[in-house]
Amino acid sequence: MNRRTFVLRGAGLALVGFSGRWTTALAAASKPKAITIYKSSTCGCCAKWVDHVRSAGFETTVHDMENMDEIKDQLGVPQAVRSCHTALVGAYLIEGHVPAPDIKRLLAQRIKTMGLAVPGMPAGTPGMAQEGEPVKNFNVVAFQRDGETRTFARY
Ligand code: CU
Ligand code: CU
Repeated sequence: MNRRTFVLRGAGLALVGFSGRWTTALAAASKPKAITIYKSSTCGCCAKWVDHVRSAGFETTVHDMENMDEIKDQLGVPQAVRSCHTALVGAYLIEGHVPAPDIKRLLAQRIKTMGLAVPGMPAGTPGMAQEGEPVKNFNVVAFQRDGETRTFARY
């Protein structure tokens, strides 16, 4: 080959190398976050919350459980913050109808907490609120293993 094609091929290889790294970086940034959700098979609001986190870009794995108290006990969800479903994302627990943006903020900020919860089942939460209605009138709390909570978000 002459010098010109050699140079062109070299440039081509460099470009492939660069774009390869670029795609990897992009994939890492936009990689969907895996979330594992435990819920009762008969829970309608749980299914709606699963849809909520899935449409927010999370990759959901759902386990329908016979006994939710058992899994909550196993995972150590404090009694005071318990709700219907329980989820695991990274090293965090997500209890109840927590809005997806709060889970994303938790993951981005890597807050030192056991997890986030919306205790009980307030009516204005994602999965409980009417379709298309703004979510409102509840707090998201960050909780510790001993049940201590602090407000994480207000709606
Ligand atoms: Cu619920
Ligand atoms: Cu639920």
